[in-house]
Amino acid sequence: MRTPLFVANWKMHKSCEETTAFALNFERDALELSALADIAIAPQTLALSSLVQALRGFPVSIAAQNCGQTEFGAFTGESSPVSLCSMGVKWVLLGHSERRWVYGETDALIASRFKAAIAAGLTPILCIGEKLEERQAGKTFEVIEQQLRAIESAEACARSLIAYEPVWAIGTGETASPAQAQEVHAFIRRLLSSRFSPHHGAATRILYGGSAKAANASELMAQPDVDGLLVGGASLDPNGFAELIRNGVRSTP
Ligand code: 13P
Repeated sequence: MRTPLFVANWKMHKSCEETTAFALNFERDALELSALADIAIAPQTLALSSLVQALRGFPVSIAAQNCGQTEFGAFTGESSPVSLCSMGVKWVLLGHSERRWVYGETDALIASRFKAAIAAGLTPILCIGEKLEERQAGKTFEVIEQQLRAIESAEACARSLIAYEPVWAIGTGETASPAQAQEVHAFIRRLLSSRFSPHHGAATRILYGGSAKAANASELMAQPDVDGLLVGGASLDPNGFAELIRNGVRSTP
C-alpha cells in the first residue's frame, strides 16, 4: 500500500513571515487531509526553522530543497544533512531540474548528496526527468535510467522516493498528460523491480511534478503508478494547495 504523498516545493518563494502565515492558514486543512495522504512542504532553507516551529504538532512534514554531500565540512553555501535532520526536517529534494540545469549539478554530485542524506537519516526524494529535446529525440527512458543510478542499492531504494518531473513541464503550464506520466512511472517501477526486487518496485512511491494543479490533480492521481504530486506554483496558496490534495486523493486508485 503506497500512501499518497503531496509535496509543496516553494523554491525561492515566501519569506519567513509568509511561511508562518501559510502554516496558520493551512492547519485546519492539514488536519482533515492528513487522514487521507501524507503532506510535506519544502520552503527555502532560511524558512525551514520558521516552518518547523509553525507546524509543530501538525501532521505536515518538512522537506529541504537540497542538502550537502557530506555530514559537515568546507562547503560554502551548503546545508548539512545532519543539521537538517536534527532541526526536524524529514525529507529532502535532490536532483531537482533547477539544481541540475541552472546550477550544473551532475549525476555524480547528486548521487553523493543522496548517500549523505540517507546516512544522516533524511528521506531523499530523487527528482529525475528529461528535457524537451531529449523527449523529442526518443531518449526519455535512457535519461531516466541514467539519473536513477543515484540509487545504488536495494537498502537505499527502500529509504527513498522518486519524483518524475519532465523539465518541459516545470513552470510552463504544460503538464504531461496522464498517459505520458503513467508511461514513465511504470518504466521507473519496472526498472526498480529488475535492479533491486519486485518488492522494491512495488513499494517505492513515485511522485509526478510539472504544472500539477487542482484542475489536473485528479486525472494524474488516477494513474496506477502515480503515488503523489510534487507541486511548485500551485502550492503557494494554502487554499489552492488544499484543493489540489482534496482532488488528488479523491481519485487515488
Ligand atoms: P510547477 O508546479 O510550478 O510546474 O513546478 C514543479 C516543480 O518544479 C516542483 O518541484
